[in-house]
Amino acid sequence: MAIKSPLINVMERAARKAGRGLLRDFGEVEQLQVRTKGPADFVSNADHKADQTIREELGHARPDFTMLTEESGETAGTDGMYRWIVDPLDGTTNFLHGIPHFCISIGVEGRSILGGKQVSEIVAGIVYDPVHDQSFWAEKGVGAYLNDRRLRVSGRRDLATSLIASGLPTLGRADPDVHQAETRALMEKVAGLRRFGAAALDLAWVAAGRYEAFWEVALKPWDIAAGILLVREAGGFVTEVNGGNNMMTSGSILASNGQIHAEIRGILAKSH
Ligand code: IPD
Ligand code: CA
Ligand code: CA
Repeated sequence: MAIKSPLINVMERAARKAGRGLLRDFGEVEQLQVRTKGPADFVSNADHKADQTIREELGHARPDFTMLTEESGETAGTDGMYRWIVDPLDGTTNFLHGIPHFCISIGVEGRSILGGKQVSEIVAGIVYDPVHDQSFWAEKGVGAYLNDRRLRVSGRRDLATSLIASGLPTLGRADPDVHQAETRALMEKVAGLRRFGAAALDLAWVAAGRYEAFWEVALKPWDIAAGILLVREAGGFVTEVNGGNNMMTSGSILASNGQIHAEIRGILAKSH
């Protein structure tokens, strides 16, 4: 039985409360009023309500943390050490199309001074799938869990038995030719490729050993903050697609079980 820290309990309470609202709205998805925020970026009433619920819950429990959410931007906190990084609804396009694959993602970034330099790292994260009531959570040094069960990445070392997920660069978010070349190169070597449409859940599923790897570019910090820690705490490996370590600023990510990381990275790099 996993012992959850007060911080994780705060995050889980917020995610579950927002999740109940999302589920109610998902049931009436046809009646939701949708307005357009930008290309490929629909924002629903449900999204805004979830954003507000999470901001209220987290803000109430830790009023001094900085708050960054996809829908409300950043509000500076007074403590300067911790920042919430929130996607109140990841998988919006699925949600709007009535596809039950979406989640809430909440990460906590901690800042510290190391050798005179400021460094940031994710110290806690939760990805909550309200449809299946699956709470993927992790705390630095404590491990990654699905509800109460400890998570480990998959042990597969062989590409031919590996399932790999990605995100498609729709509506000009990234170069479609690059992605096409990458998938073409992988297709010949892996057991399967998947594109489910919620990056935070994709990362949680790598942590849970459901996929061996996931890659995508042009993501935002709220898509990946919690998932990065989940994968690492489950024993996996996370880099940018080019092997760098600036995922949170570049939005490029390759997360894997560690066993096939170098091989996948090599195939992606050579494909274009
Ligand atoms: C999107 C999803 C999708 C990914 C997009 C994200 P949203 O987030 O994570 O899987 O491919 O890049 O923007 O808009 O549903 O929060
Ligand atoms: Ca998102
Ligand atoms: Ca979102």
